[in-house]
Amino acid sequence: MLETKPLFVFCLLSFLRLSATIDTIIPSHSIRDGETLVSAGGTFELGFFSPGNSKGRYLGIWYRISTDAVVWVANRETPIANRSGVLKVTNEGDIVLFNNTNSTVWSSNTSRAAASPVVKLLDSGNLVVKDGNDNGSKNLLWQSFDYPCDTLMPGMKLGKNFVTSRDWFLTSWKSTDDPAKGEFSLRIDTHGLPQQVSMKGDKIKARGGPWNGLSFSGYPRLRPNPVFKYEFVMNKTEVYYVYTLVNSSVFSRLVFYPSGVWGRLIWRDQTHSWEIYSTSQVDQCENYAYCGAYATCNANRSPVCACLQGFVSKSPKNWNSVDWSDGCFRRTPLECNRDGFLKFTNVKLPDTSSSWFNITMSLEECEKLCLKNCSCTAYSNLDIREKGSGCLLWFGNLNDIRVDQDGQDIYIRLANSELDNSEKNRHSSKIKQVRIIVGSALLVMGILILGVISYVWKKKISFKGITRKNYNYVGGNENMELPVFDFMTIANATCNFSGNNKLGEGGFGPVYKGTLQEGQVVAVKRLSTNSGQGMNEFKNEVLLIAKLQHRNLVKLLGYSVQENEKMLIYEYMPNKSLDSFIFDHSRSKLLNWHNRIHIIGGIARGLLYLHQDSRLRIIHRDLKASNILLDDTMNPKISDFGLARTFGGDQTEAKTKRIVGTHGYMSPEYAGYGQFSIKSDVFSFGVLVLEIVSGKRNREFCHFDDHLNLLGLAWRLWIEDQAMELIDKSIGDMFTLSDQVLRCIHVGLLCVQQRPEDRPDMSSVVLMLSSESLLPKPRQPGFYSEKARPIADSSSTKHEPVSTNEISMTLLEGR
Ligand SMILES: *[C@@H]1O[C@H](CO)[C@@H](O)[C@H](O)[C@H]1NC(C)=O
Ligand SMILES: *[C@@H]1O[C@H](CO)[C@@H](O)[C@H](O)[C@H]1NC(C)=O
Ligand SMILES: *[C@@H]1O[C@H](CO)[C@@H](O)[C@H](O)[C@H]1NC(C)=O
Ligand SMILES: *[C@@H]1O[C@H](CO)[C@@H](O)[C@H](O)[C@H]1NC(C)=O
Ligand SMILES: *[C@@H]1O[C@H](CO)[C@@H](O)[C@H](O)[C@H]1NC(C)=O
Ligand SMILES: *[C@@H]1O[C@H](CO)[C@@H](O)[C@H](O)[C@H]1NC(C)=O
Ligand SMILES: *[C@@H]1O[C@H](CO)[C@@H](O)[C@H](O)[C@H]1NC(C)=O
Ligand SMILES: *[C@@H]1O[C@H](CO)[C@@H](O)[C@H](O)[C@H]1NC(C)=O
Ligand SMILES: *[C@@H]1O[C@H](CO)[C@@H](O)[C@H](O)[C@H]1NC(C)=O
Repeated sequence: MLETKPLFVFCLLSFLRLSATIDTIIPSHSIRDGETLVSAGGTFELGFFSPGNSKGRYLGIWYRISTDAVVWVANRETPIANRSGVLKVTNEGDIVLFNNTNSTVWSSNTSRAAASPVVKLLDSGNLVVKDGNDNGSKNLLWQSFDYPCDTLMPGMKLGKNFVTSRDWFLTSWKSTDDPAKGEFSLRIDTHGLPQQVSMKGDKIKARGGPWNGLSFSGYPRLRPNPVFKYEFVMNKTEVYYVYTLVNSSVFSRLVFYPSGVWGRLIWRDQTHSWEIYSTSQVDQCENYAYCGAYATCNANRSPVCACLQGFVSKSPKNWNSVDWSDGCFRRTPLECNRDGFLKFTNVKLPDTSSSWFNITMSLEECEKLCLKNCSCTAYSNLDIREKGSGCLLWFGNLNDIRVDQDGQDIYIRLANSELDNSEKNRHSSKIKQVRIIVGSALLVMGILILGVISYVWKKKISFKGITRKNYNYVGGNENMELPVFDFMTIANATCNFSGNNKLGEGGFGPVYKGTLQEGQVVAVKRLSTNSGQGMNEFKNEVLLIAKLQHRNLVKLLGYSVQENEKMLIYEYMPNKSLDSFIFDHSRSKLLNWHNRIHIIGGIARGLLYLHQDSRLRIIHRDLKASNILLDDTMNPKISDFGLARTFGGDQTEAKTKRIVGTHGYMSPEYAGYGQFSIKSDVFSFGVLVLEIVSGKRNREFCHFDDHLNLLGLAWRLWIEDQAMELIDKSIGDMFTLSDQVLRCIHVGLLCVQQRPEDRPDMSSVVLMLSSESLLPKPRQPGFYSEKARPIADSSSTKHEPVSTNEISMTLLEGR
């Protein structure tokens, strides 16, 4: 009954709308503020709008399904002060925007004269001017796709035309309220081999890299997929990148945000919102030349920067203080014709702005050519499809190299003596080959001897930390061996698991501090014995967990098994866990806002890695402040990841009877029904964010006489516009940072929403935290009604939440 009325009104409205919509204007017509053009298929609308809090009126094109998704703006620099704007098309085919004094606010400057011009809004979102007498493609006089703003639409080009010298590039808005050109641009740089870059002013800020036949070198995630098709065209006339949608009923756009980060968005009908499909903001290695010249960046490694083999750090002092920008230089100077090349695999190719290329040359010819020219520093294939083809040469410094599992090969010039030093010498000039054969025979013998020695060594005193150290080589260590410690070594290191060495009690057993014979300090997790898991299964799982490597995850150093005793050995974190700071009256003063936002960002990236980027897709299931450890420079590291998977028994399915986790951090669907998903981790993350901002525990917190928990309090302050009240007083004066803090609270509230489908995924969270994009309004958090309120209060959302009784029960059980 209730639904008939809105439905009727809706039908009436859409009828009125349909009857009034047009998609074209001709010289005798005009569009006033309040009137719009609608594309024939009903996807796009053109008209006047005011973005965000702005009062100015702009002429733009937006999606009708979500009118705040503006894809193009005409007068981005010249807003009209009030609703007096009028759009007209002149007899010559010029589109002109006038204001109240009939002065031209904006004009398309259509270049060719037309006999009978027609302006039409197409279903691709393109506004075109055509000469109506003639409908071939030649009579296209002007199109908005040639004047991109901050959005790249399917079918729109990003690149350059050398004949017309037209440059298609995106420029960010100044802010979400102001579509004027901001300081960032996303373009194809055509110095040397064309490459995709985002620039801040005239400086490169991030680089997608050159096209390698499949994708931009730095964005392997662009690889074939069911949603998009990509094309990169490069010939004498033009260079451009374009994408099209495989299924035309899917909506997608790529937005370049005011912060200089781009996001590729897909419309989800189910949630009625834009979901982030991919984004440029993944980790610190995305910053251009973060590690300087001749160094590789790898966010999963600590430290993230390392010199290429054969190169040494320019200013070791700065490297130690985590400023990498000086980069590295050659240990041994080049000797020109007598040099050779060392092959590096799995890299994102360095900056190609001073490079040379030839599409038909083979790799062998390429090597010869590079060797001949003394200023050539590296070479590689141009196109990596099939066996690889083409030749790309670099001159001068090699900048902005990163390690990437899906990356490609590059051959870097080194002095011959350096090549001799290299055990991985696979590729060098011909003259050297004889020497290499002899050399490698010796090497093999050496390795054999080393192997025997290390075997004996391991047997005797187990781990020495040597096995892995020497393999800090580009490409990652796929088949690394995880050291096995024997029980006695660990018992000695922890003084027989003495109470004095106990660091705490985790979800899966106690944790001890230990000191190995060599002085290395480690944390030992002694697992409770009731997992019922076999030894081989255990070993396999541990090896899988060890492969998860990320700057924001605690590193597993080894493990130990003896009969029923299973232990995991981790790196030791001197600053203990996050809860020992934020919930402690005096220690909380040590964490200023800068530390806190750094910690929130780090946890978000670590969790994103677990959810999306690692090959295992781990749901943590017990994310909480005591599971976030802090290293000596306050970098957060998530611990206990993968354990739920290993020790959860029957819990590999999305529903479980035995609930691991901690009350206060568990989402309603998990606590109530045992349903877990990445969205239950997102909930815990949201709780954590609110705890970090407020310095208060979710579970224990009581707000005066009200029985609201932290989520309830945050929500109430939010809707009362008092969110700043939530902030931990220890953070100090917040005036200058209030926007950033409010944004954090906002993101936290989005994460703790009652319904899992309303919560953002972690890639969206990372983007939201790092950009200034508009955020959706949060809905009521889960557990809002806990104890204090009658259930009727909380049932405003359509889906019936877990009943209050059940929640109280689970909560009581947890105490
Ligand atoms: C109209 O344009 C003129 C000239 O650019 C400008 O002086 C005037 O303020 C504008 N009026 C409005 C309402 O924007
Ligand atoms: C716009 O402003 C001008 C003066 O600034 C005024 O004359 C005109 O009536 C206004 N138009 C509308 C539609 O508000
Ligand atoms: C603007 O032009 C229209 C007709 O094109 C005219 O009726 C109106 O008086 C003009 N207004 C001003 C302020 O010149
Ligand atoms: C049209 O030409 C004017 C004057 O040369 C210029 O200011 C304006 O930016 C041009 N408009 C477009 C869309 O290029
Ligand atoms: C141009 O349009 C007319 C009708 O609008 C159509 O009959 C004709 O085939 C079209 N020509 C081309 C080249 O598309
Ligand atoms: C360049 O490529 C475009 C798109 O494939 C094509 O239309 C154009 O004719 C090509 N130009 C040359 C000179 O090959
Ligand atoms: C295209 O997308 C729509 C909406 O997501 C879906 O219903 C339809 O099945 C898809 N078509 C194909 C051929 O995949
Ligand atoms: C590219 O290499 C081929 C074969 O080696 C050669 O014939 C051609 O002239 C080269 N092109 C350029 C532009 O150097
Ligand atoms: C080496 O290559 C650079 C850049 O292409 C060129 O300027 C220089 O003349 C070349 N030198 C020789 C000896 O070929």
